[in-house]
Amino acid sequence: MYTKKVMDHFANPRNMGEIENPSGVGTVGNAKCGDIMRMYLNIDDNGVIQDVKFKTFGCGAAVATSSIATELIKGKTVQDALKVTNKAVVDALDGLPPVKVHCSLLAEEAIHAALWDYAEKKGIVIEGLEKPKSDIHEEEKEPTY
Ligand code: FES
Repeated sequence: MYTKKVMDHFANPRNMGEIENPSGVGTVGNAKCGDIMRMYLNIDDNGVIQDVKFKTFGCGAAVATSSIATELIKGKTVQDALKVTNKAVVDALDGLPPVKVHCSLLAEEAIHAALWDYAEKKGIVIEGLEKPKSDIHEEEKEPTY
């Protein structure tokens, strides 16, 4: 059901952990499955992602997609990291079962949320970046239950 790459990234996640005082951090969640993903970025003055770490409280596919997503954006510029879509994440894992594709969406959203936080802290606008919809911090302000 899962490819070798998914199993590998699930069993040996890359860049797991957190970054103290990150340039940007984003936390997103999927309301349906309840899984949560947090992405930390350290971005240098040239807009290059020097370090990235993640924490995922979720399913195995969410762990694998976060892990590979960190590898895909590390060393990239902010603009190139923006191009890492959930499809790119799925392709890099040699595919995901259809019911697990939403897990890769979480990875894309977590990157965007962290970039959004970075842009807000720096007071800059990143072209092509939209405000993340499922940023957990937003939800905390207005509980819906
Ligand atoms: Fe929710 Fe995978 S089942 S992220």
